[in-house]
Amino acid sequence: MRRIFSGIQPTGLIHIGNYLGAIKNWVKLQDEYDSIFCVVDLHALTVPQDPKTFKDKVFDLAATLLAAGLNPKKCLLFAQSHVPEHTEMTWLLNTITPIGELERMTQFKEKAEKFRESINMGLFDYPVLMAADILLYDAEVVPVGEDQRQHIELSRIIARKFNNRFGNTLIEPEALIQKEGARIMSLSSPSKKMSKSDNPENFIAISDEPEIIREKIKKAVTDSGKEIKYDPEQKPAISNLLIIFSQFSGRTIKEIEKEFTGKNYVEFKAALSETIIKGLEPLQVKRKELLVENPEKVNAVLKEGAKKARQIASKKLQEVKKKMGLI
Ligand code: TYM
Repeated sequence: MRRIFSGIQPTGLIHIGNYLGAIKNWVKLQDEYDSIFCVVDLHALTVPQDPKTFKDKVFDLAATLLAAGLNPKKCLLFAQSHVPEHTEMTWLLNTITPIGELERMTQFKEKAEKFRESINMGLFDYPVLMAADILLYDAEVVPVGEDQRQHIELSRIIARKFNNRFGNTLIEPEALIQKEGARIMSLSSPSKKMSKSDNPENFIAISDEPEIIREKIKKAVTDSGKEIKYDPEQKPAISNLLIIFSQFSGRTIKEIEKEFTGKNYVEFKAALSETIIKGLEPLQVKRKELLVENPEKVNAVLKEGAKKARQIASKKLQEVKKKMGLI
C-alpha cells in the first residue's frame, strides 16, 4: 500500500477551506492508502500562541479530525511534538537546504509581511520542518490544498539533494491536490484565500452554529449582475460560492447553475447556507460528543498514534544519521 502523510496546524478556528481542501479528502484516502495524519503543533508556534490554551487547541483539532471521519483503525493520528524525531530530522535537513530556496516561499513572504514585528527563525524554517514531517515516513503522496504546493515542491528538492549527496535514502513526495475545493476563497474578498488567521467574519468555521452560517453567507460579497454562473474571471465571488455548494452537496456545478437559472442571489445564498449547515451537522454533533463525553478517547488515539509514528520515524532517522556519518 502506498503511504500518504499530511498535517494541519492547531491555529485559530478550522474553516471550511481546510475541510474541503484537505480533511474531507483525507477521510476518503484513508481507505486507499497507508495513512498518517499529524496535528502540527510545532509549526503553529511560528506565530504567537497563548500557552494557557494551546494544548486545548491541539486536543480540539484532534477531536475535530476524528469527528470528520478519520478512523484510528485505518490511519495514524498524532501530535507533531510527541515525536521528537521531527525536530532532529529538521536540523539534519537544514544543513543541506539552500537559504535561497526558503526565501522564495510565498507563505513565508506573506506571513513575514503580516507579523512584521515578530518574524522569527521558525517561520523561515517552517518548510524544512514540513519536509522532515513528510520524508521521515517515506510518504509518496501528500494530500493538501493548493497553497501548500510550493512547500511540497521544496520537500522534493531537499530529498533529491540528500540522495545526490549521501545515496538513495529519501522518497520524493508528490502533492495530491483536488481539482475543485483546493483553494476556497475568503467570503469578503474572492481574490484572497480563506484563512484561519483572517477575521472570522470572512470564513465559516466548521464549528459555526446554523444562525452564524446564515448570517455570514448573507453578508458574503457577490459580483455585479445577477446570474448564478460559474465564471472565475468575471464572477469570482459567485464561483467560489458555487464550488462550496457543489462540494457540500455532492452535486456538480452545472446542476446547481441549472437549478438557479432565473433565481436571484438571495435565493441562492439561502439554499447554500442550508446545504453547508446540513453538511457540517454530523461532524459538529460528533465533535461535541468527543469533547464533552469522550475526551479520553481522543487522548488515547493521540498517544497510540505517536507511539506507532515514532517507531517508523526513529528507524528512518537512524538511516539518515548513518548516511551522514553520525553513527
Ligand atoms: P494548514 O493548517 O494551513 O492547512 C491545513 C490544510 O488545509 C488546506 N487549506 C485550504 N484548502 C483549500 N482552501 C483554503 N482556503 C485552504 N486553507 C488551507 C491546506 O492546504 C492544508 O492542506 N503547512 C501545512 C501543515 C503541514 C503539512 C505538513 C501538510 C505541516 N507539515 C506535512 C502536509 C504535509 C499548513 O499550514 O496547513
